Amino acid sequence: MARILITSALPYINGVKHLGNLIGSQLPADLFARYNRGRGNEVMFICATDEHGTPAELAAAKAGQPVAEYCAELHDVQADIAKRFGLSFDYFGRSSSPQNHRLTQHLAAKLAENGLIEEVSEKQVYSIDDGRFLPDRYIEGTCPNCGHEGARGDQCDECTKQLSPTDLIDPYSTVSGSKNLEVRETKHLFLRQSKLRDVLDEWISSKTDWPILTTSIAKKWLHDGDGLRDRGITRDLDWGVPVPGMEGKVFYVWFDAPIEYIGATAEWAEANGLDDAAWERWWRTDKGADDVRYVQFMGKDNVPFHTLSFPATIMGSGEPWKLVDYIKSFNYLNYDGGQFSTSKGRGVFMDQALSILPSDYWRWWLLSHAPENSDAEFTWENFQASVNKDLADVLGNFASRVTKFCRSKFGEVVPDGGTYGPEEQALIDTLDKRIKAYNTHMDDMEVRKAASELRAIWVAGNEYLQAAAPWAKFKDDPDAAAAVIRLSLNLIRLYAVLSAPFIPDASAALLKAMNTDDDSWPDDVTQALETLPAGHTFTVPEVTFAKITDDQREEWQEKFAGKRE
Ligand code: 2FM
Ligand code: ZN
Repeated sequence: MARILITSALPYINGVKHLGNLIGSQLPADLFARYNRGRGNEVMFICATDEHGTPAELAAAKAGQPVAEYCAELHDVQADIAKRFGLSFDYFGRSSSPQNHRLTQHLAAKLAENGLIEEVSEKQVYSIDDGRFLPDRYIEGTCPNCGHEGARGDQCDECTKQLSPTDLIDPYSTVSGSKNLEVRETKHLFLRQSKLRDVLDEWISSKTDWPILTTSIAKKWLHDGDGLRDRGITRDLDWGVPVPGMEGKVFYVWFDAPIEYIGATAEWAEANGLDDAAWERWWRTDKGADDVRYVQFMGKDNVPFHTLSFPATIMGSGEPWKLVDYIKSFNYLNYDGGQFSTSKGRGVFMDQALSILPSDYWRWWLLSHAPENSDAEFTWENFQASVNKDLADVLGNFASRVTKFCRSKFGEVVPDGGTYGPEEQALIDTLDKRIKAYNTHMDDMEVRKAASELRAIWVAGNEYLQAAAPWAKFKDDPDAAAAVIRLSLNLIRLYAVLSAPFIPDASAALLKAMNTDDDSWPDDVTQALETLPAGHTFTVPEVTFAKITDDQREEWQEKFAGKRE
């Protein structure tokens, strides 16, 4: 049994995520976790809300809530939606947890001990009335370039010019509106990641089996970008992991967020009444994690932080923390001719999706169209076509035809009689080949290829049933029809097992209808198709997948065309 540690990029706390976020990390990570559990591997699947930084503070201010209260509330909202989407995290933590505070401070101390942290004096805007230094985004004023009045200290949204706060004309604090500002000297910590360039370069170069998307971004930042520039890892905020000995400063959100992968595993241990050894065996190579395979899932925008900054933290600590073994990254999913956008409220958000259809419909479409090799696009036409064809016409229809025919001719029981002939053997051979390919694609995290193999496995059953035509055989040779139906009922169970990583709820419903909890992954197809013996009772499943009508499609298209309220 292999041990697999899986983390999904941590969703920002500031609101419900859209489907583009979902397919970029959490959903494919869940697919891989479910598949590995199905194969009998020991899995630890970790995610958490990313709760620090200016976006969290700004969102809380907008909601008129104290930031701690806002984060606690939004964490529960996201945890609930994740559950309803079938995301099977072993733990969904919070980057604001005491565990993450401790680990972040510990790792920063180790980096300092190893000479990788430098104290730098900087000039920064101080708001006398607010009694604090202001991060760039907390200062607004008039853009010196275009005259726009609401330009931020880091950039003007109107003309897109990159700014620094001292460029602004008539600057004011967005915390209080005060113009009583002055430039003062202050200290910040910088991570000297440039010192690790050679080790990181060698490490990335050794990852020849990683997706090109991952390594090409990493190499670009290593070589031509300024990705390994020494970076400030402290900020002037109240909310975050406090920097010991530096009053009013916290660590930068991108420093503490990936450390929360470890923190959330420690939270998992505590929540389950386990000791430190329980989580350390996943994360410390000196404490049992040397045989763990660690896989991360994320959108392409997160790749630099996971290939360079976070490994720099881990390596620079000089301690035996587990480094990632494989990074699966994704391109973007677009929405109906444009981009999904959280700030513009454009697209379909997770809660909205679930308000119109069960999660399996979305899971199937998103995974079978995962933006792996290029950006992908969600359109309502494509969604309708895939659901109706793959789920309703192929899988759902097979389950319904077989069980209803059996009920009318033999009752709700697996029929006895007849033997398997060449047609059955041909089907078994096809399934055998295809299931092997399916396993390989799942092992390789080739999400689209796995989905099309699974679809082909469903199609093979349909074609067999169509050709074997038990309804035609029944009159003259009921035994022959019984054999076809016995095999087909077993095939429904097998489909439920194989499909569970993609569509867990429908799979559970099919297993329940087949009146079995044998969900063992097939080793030998012939044997797997003998699981339900003659005489075993079942029930006809409720409609597994309903078709999306043209009216529904149009209604939804219109409903989700505007801005999210
Ligand atoms: O891009 C994002 O949504 C970030 N919140 C991802 C953080 S991943 C990790 F480092 F925590
Ligand atoms: Zn401007």
